[in-house]
Parts: sequence; C-alpha cells; structure tokens
Amino acid sequence: MADAVRVDSARILATGAAGFIGSNWVRMALARWPRAHVVVLDALTYAGNRANLAGLDESRLSFIHGDIREPAMVAKAMEGCDVVVNFAAESMVDRSIDDPGSFLLTDTYGVFVLLEEAKRRGVSRFVQISTDEVYGEVMGDPVTEEGPLLPRNPYAASKAGGDRLAFAYSATYNVPIIITRCSNNYGPYQYPEKLIPLFVTNALEDKPLPVYGSGKNRRDWIHVEDHCEALCMLLEAPAAQVAGETFNIGSGREWDVLEITSRILELTGKPASLVQHVEDRPGHDRRYALDSSKIASALGWRAKHAFEDGLAQTVRWYQERRDWWEPIKAGEFREYYERMYGKRKVLRAGMGS
Ligand code: NAD
Ligand code: DAU
Repeated sequence: MADAVRVDSARILATGAAGFIGSNWVRMALARWPRAHVVVLDALTYAGNRANLAGLDESRLSFIHGDIREPAMVAKAMEGCDVVVNFAAESMVDRSIDDPGSFLLTDTYGVFVLLEEAKRRGVSRFVQISTDEVYGEVMGDPVTEEGPLLPRNPYAASKAGGDRLAFAYSATYNVPIIITRCSNNYGPYQYPEKLIPLFVTNALEDKPLPVYGSGKNRRDWIHVEDHCEALCMLLEAPAAQVAGETFNIGSGREWDVLEITSRILELTGKPASLVQHVEDRPGHDRRYALDSSKIASALGWRAKHAFEDGLAQTVRWYQERRDWWEPIKAGEFREYYERMYGKRKVLRAGMGS
C-alpha cells in the first residue's frame, strides 16, 4: 500500500453522497482537490436528493443511481476508484425503531458488500463513516476510541455491525480502512426529520416543536463542515498514521434539546408557545460525549465553528432555501410525520412549564 494516497488526483467513490453529510463533503472535496474525480453511488432513498449536488463541477463528478447492497452495482461504481468513502446509510433513529430490517441491510450488510469489492480491487483507502451512537449513552467522562461499544437502538446496533466489519477487513485481509465516529452534525442540506432542521422549519411554518420527554437529552453538536474537513485530513494523512485506525470526531461542546430549542425560537423570532413536550423516544439515549483528542494530536484537527454561530448560519440557510425544503416537507415527509408524531401523546406545552 502506498504510504500517502494521492487523494488530490484520485478517483474517489463516495457512496450515499446525495445525502446531507456526503453532499457537503463532495462540495468540499472538489474544491480542495482540483484534480480529483468523485463518483457518487446513491440509491436515492427518501433522504437522498440530487439537488444536494447541484452546481458542482460536472466534469469531475459522476452520479450512479444504485444500491450498496447490490454487488454488481458496487463493482461497476468502484471501477477505477482507488479511494472509497462510505456515507450510505439509513440514518434516522426513530425510523429504525419502526423498521429495523432496512437498517440492518444497508448499515451492516451493505458495508460488507462494499468491503468485499474493496478487498477484491485492492483499494488504497476505505473510510467507513460510523457514528458516536455505537458507544451507547455516555454518562461519565467523554468516551475515547477504546470505549466499549454498547449500542442501544437498532440504528446504532446496525452501524456498530458495519463499524466492526470494517475493522475485521483491516485485521484479517489488510484492507486499509479508517473508521470515523462523529457526533451529531448540523448545517445546510440536512433532511428535515432530524432535530435542528425539523425545529427550524417547523418554527418557520409556525408549527409545534415536538420535544421528546424532558428535553434534557444532551449531544455533542458539530457543524458538518468541521466533520468534512476532518475526513479530508484523514484522507490526506500518511497510511502509517491512519490505516486500520478509528477516530472520534466531535466538537467537545454539549447542548441539550431545550437549549437548542430556545436558541431556534430566538433566531426565528417565534414564541415559546410553539413548544410541545411529547411522549419520549423508546430507549432514548440521554447523552453522547466524545473525547476527540486522538485526531487532534495526530492531525491537528479541531472543530472551528462555534455552535452559536453555526446554528445562526444554519437557520439563515433554511430561511433562504425554502425552495429546497418546502417540496421535501410536502412529499413522503408528510406521511412520515403523521406516522411518527400524529398519535404521540402531548405531555405539556411551552418551555419549562
Ligand atoms: P442521510 O440520511 O442524510 O443520507 C444517507 C444517504 O445514503 C442518502 O443519500 C441515501 O439515499 C443513501 N442511501 C441509503 N441507503 C442506501 C443504499 N442501500 N445504497 C446506496 N445509498 C443509500 O445521512 P447523513 O446524515 O448524511 O449521514 C451520512 C453518514 O454519516 C451515515 O453513515 C450516518 O450513519 C453517519 N453519521 C451521521 C451523523 C449525523 O449527525 N447526521 C453523525 C455521525 C455519523
Ligand atoms: O450522534 C450521531 C447521530 O446523531 C447520527 O449517527 C444519526 O444519524 C443522527 O440521526 C443523530 O442521532 P440523534 O438521535 O441524536 O439525532 P436526532 O436529530 O434524531 O435527535 C437529537 C436529539 O433531539 C435527541 O435527543 C432526540 C431529540 N429530538 C429529536 C427529534 C427528531 C426531539 O426531542 N424531538 C424530535 O422531534
């Protein structure tokens, strides 16, 4: 294996990159590496959107509509690629509680299909985008990469399956994998089912903001550009430093749901009466907290966006890009929202009441 991948001129397969994080990463990668070519393989599930890749340099971007669970499709997409970054996943915890099977198939079996092809082809680098949810809830000190994997919902368990399979392909077959475990992302192009885009767009529509249970659940929140920059730096690093390694990627800043809700109300100029405390998510993890000192000392990476500024910038993006999210909320999303929230008991209304 070459010590340093010439990622700046590589042909890179980015699976699932018509989604939120992947599309932000493709935008950054094409700008950062002017001679690189990115092939996107995406099944265009409800969360995938070709519009997320609009305006990018088409001469260095190819799009293949296909599924990572299909070996023939994966073989076709990986043709000529030296680097693979797997963003493809079913990514929403609530949907995984409703329909765990599709998570197992994409987030574990799909990773196996990709790894098999990467092994056959002898790619120079394979990045598996895992998640901090694989650690389960963390009530003590922020967890390092050595922490136990104790996933507590079907999404997290399926991601843990993909995470460990990637590691097994490194240990057993010497596939040069890197596993990343990032915290909660926010920023532009995030499908409006996740907390921040849901609450921002609901507020802009004067609709209720459904806080699960107490609203005291805490997460480490990171701007998507900080996550994407860490991924670029890992791809640029020498293999000796990163191959076979796992890296946490977090901002080190924690916020609970109620704190975020108040800020969104403030930034959108909407009243606290929009807040509704509703029946909790089953198995709701109370806290995720990451120790990201490994990537900081290995590569000098640190999150640059302060949450206060990143959230304000994100709210502005959703205010300006109604053309992006209004059609989404008018489509499949309506049926999803009714299914998830329609029958949910309202516990109380307003903030802190
Ligand atoms: P997303 O749901 O916005 O996008 C997922 C993309 O994968 C979509 O474009 C979808 O069409 C595609 N996809 C789904 N199943 C597929 C399949 N079988 N074959 C091909 N494409 C398929 O997700 P996201 O928030 O952009 O997350 C990207 C990755 O990062 C995921 O692996 C997720 O687990 C991980 N992650 C997300 C976060 C977060 O906060 N969003 C944090 C840490 C890790
Ligand atoms: O930690 C990384 C993970 O973060 C990623 O791997 C997942 O793909 C991503 O979905 C995210 O998982 P969470 O479950 O933490 O994110 P979500 O946006 O669904 O919820 C964040 C918090 O907000 C959580 O405590 C639940 C709460 N919440 C969420 C929604 C959608 C509410 O109170 N009300 C809501 O309507």
